Amino acid sequence: MSEGDHSCKLALVTGSTSGIGLGVARELAGSGYRIMLHGLLDAGAGADLAADFTREFAVDCGFSNADLSTLRGCTELVVATQEFGGSVDVLVNNAGIQYTSAAVDFPQARWDSLIAVNLNAPFYLSQQVLPAMLAVGWGRIINIASVHGLVASNKKAAYCAAKHGLVGLTKVLALESAKAGVTVNAICPGWVETPLIEPQIQAIAQAQGIDIERAKMALVGEKQPLPVATQPAAIGQLVVFLLSDAAATMTGIALPVDGGWTAQ
Ligand SMILES: NC(=O)c1ccc[n+]([C@@H]2O[C@H](COP(=O)([O-])OP(=O)(O)OC[C@H]3O[C@@H](n4cnc5c(N)ncnc54)[C@H](O)[C@@H]3O)[C@@H](O)[C@H]2O)c1
Repeated sequence: MSEGDHSCKLALVTGSTSGIGLGVARELAGSGYRIMLHGLLDAGAGADLAADFTREFAVDCGFSNADLSTLRGCTELVVATQEFGGSVDVLVNNAGIQYTSAAVDFPQARWDSLIAVNLNAPFYLSQQVLPAMLAVGWGRIINIASVHGLVASNKKAAYCAAKHGLVGLTKVLALESAKAGVTVNAICPGWVETPLIEPQIQAIAQAQGIDIERAKMALVGEKQPLPVATQPAAIGQLVVFLLSDAAATMTGIALPVDGGWTAQ
């Protein structure tokens, strides 16, 4: 397939009803990809979002609200995607959740659900879409990992375990797909301005008695030498690049977008 002609390519972006996934889906739709939107919205709101995308970007869009915390939900999403638009050319494993607690107190149910959504689901989904990519000799899998796939922070045992696991999975899938025109890469953002980080901002505001803007600056600046949160659209533009012919030999990487967080 030639660069620039994406009219026949189908991209499944998990967790694309919010935050980074929505930013990625918007950039891909703007680049001509057909999009399978996905996330925990009710079916009506999801259908409205898909219709908005079609109006704004003139591309076909589907929607599924499959719960990715189980293998069954992952399979449901792949089947819904295939029914909508055939086999998946691009899979962006983005859906994710956060929970913070010291490891010794970490509730086991929280550990299980975080590992299920942030690590098991990318594995199950990749396993189900890869055979068709390998058969046609083109495909792209992008895993939205995190700086926490590269370094640790306090109170993020499950998140760091899942994201380090996702970086490892990225490398193995890249090796196993390398001869078949399929690339697999991870993006490792630092702070990105989305609903996922709101509870952490609110906790700082409350603990320090400061307003939300100052709490955001404190959160971002504590880890990032460049103290600015990345916007979801910037991650989307990076995904578009990783799908392009210019990135055809980039595979198995874990690329930080982190204001210098992991350079320290
Ligand atoms: N925001 C950040 O600073 C940041 C930094 C690094 C990595 N990330 C990663 O980026 C990804 C997206 O994060 P975000 O900040 O955009 O989050 P968000 O909370 O804005 O969006 C999460 C998306 O995942 C979906 N989702 C959550 N649980 C699900 C489940 N059980 N089944 C199906 N879908 C589910 C939600 O519906 C939503 O669409 C996550 O994997 C996160 O770990 C975020």
